[in-house]
Amino acid sequence: MSRKLHLNLFVHGRGHHETAWRHPASTRRALTDIDYYRELARTAEKGLFDSLFLADALAVGDEVSHAAKGGLEPITTLAAVAGATERIGLIGTVSTTYTEPYNLARQFASLDHISHGRAGWNIVTSWVPGAGPNFGYDHQIEHGERYERAYDFLDAVTKLWDSWADDAVLDDREGGRYADTSRVKKINHAGPYHKVAGPLNVPRSPQGRPVYVQAGSSTAGRRFAAQYAEAVFTAHLEKATAVAFYADLKGQAVGLGRRADQILVLPGISAVIGSTEAEAKRLQRDLDELSDPKVGLERLSGRFGGHDFSHLDLDKVLTLADLPDPATVQTAQSRAHVIAALVEREKPTLRQLLHSLAGARGHFAMAGTPEQVADLIEDWFRSGAADGFNVMPPILPALLETFIDEVVPLLQKRGLFRTEYEADTLRGHYGLERPGSQFFDAPEAHAPAA
Ligand SMILES: Cc1cc2nc3c(=O)[nH]c(=O)nc-3n(C[C@H](O)[C@H](O)[C@H](O)COP(=O)(O)O)c2cc1C
Repeated sequence: MSRKLHLNLFVHGRGHHETAWRHPASTRRALTDIDYYRELARTAEKGLFDSLFLADALAVGDEVSHAAKGGLEPITTLAAVAGATERIGLIGTVSTTYTEPYNLARQFASLDHISHGRAGWNIVTSWVPGAGPNFGYDHQIEHGERYERAYDFLDAVTKLWDSWADDAVLDDREGGRYADTSRVKKINHAGPYHKVAGPLNVPRSPQGRPVYVQAGSSTAGRRFAAQYAEAVFTAHLEKATAVAFYADLKGQAVGLGRRADQILVLPGISAVIGSTEAEAKRLQRDLDELSDPKVGLERLSGRFGGHDFSHLDLDKVLTLADLPDPATVQTAQSRAHVIAALVEREKPTLRQLLHSLAGARGHFAMAGTPEQVADLIEDWFRSGAADGFNVMPPILPALLETFIDEVVPLLQKRGLFRTEYEADTLRGHYGLERPGSQFFDAPEAHAPAA
């Protein structure tokens, strides 16, 4: 069977463009209206997407005065979306820095049961500086320590999901035995940050564990992803950096004894699509013209840990000296690197940089015809840059619908994308094995996913 690409819908506000919330083509629904998310999920399922994904930031900044921020919490939202869909995978973001392993493990095990095996966890360490003070810390926990905590967290939650054997629940009414306690295990995890006795209070879920998704691409982030991630979201403005990232990540995973096809790389793509290139560019211009430099500056400052750019003239040509060193920022180092590389390569004015970032915050953005979008997807897929894409429509739902109506059929015609679902679980869509329990199954007992 020829290799097929994977498509994930990244749901973000009323679209990924900073100004989508005020554009006439975006939804009129409130960001707190569950029907909005249900409808998007059903649309993506109609388009045979592998999955949809909800991000989560644990703080709201002042930019909310001019930018649509704030919405629903991912796990509760995805539980509601599960009831409105049948096949599409449901990936929710939860932080390893600001939650407890036991809580997270029971929530995702529940979501996996509720959705009959469609849950994925986007593992983040939370880059937003305002998160720390919302969880009892004076300030943000620094980048290196966030990843150290993440290892301990993953060790603990994985043991919790493995603490029930698949056959532990007997439910034997005649014999009077509900569970075989020799098949349920205390984990007694005692790590540097987390102590958890276990077992979990939710039996093993259909996928064994949710799919481990990860989205940090710094040096520390890649090392972590190589060990744990089964799918990786990542931001690249150029094919060359995506190719290098892909090779590096898979190489590191193979070096740890993993199979390269068990870690999928999904770069973001944000496409303004028009029936002609001129029409797409016009729509792009309409979106850009609505943008507010105040919001852009606030976001740029957030990306660099609160650095003040407000003294710079908007028409000043930027140099690297205007930016803090990405390796020193405590937010998302990989995204700071993407922005610095753009400044070095294109020498934009501050205003031009803000426009570039307004589209998709440092993810690959383009404006073109369905053929041009399909060509780019095919090129990256065949060049070793991607196993699929994190689709980030600039306007929702309008440009998701265009992608599904116009781009997906081209990908199918080229034999690159499925024409019907072949599996019922997220592991099945992604071609990932179902993991055995570390306590109850032999190490090689990894079954192909249903
Ligand atoms: C597509 C994508 C989505 C992300 N979503 C979130 C999110 O919802 N919440 C969050 O705190 N970080 C999110 N991140 C950021 C990373 O997960 C990570 O925490 C951050 O990049 C810091 O890691 P790094 O320095 O290794 O890049 C996202 C990153 C990408 C590429």
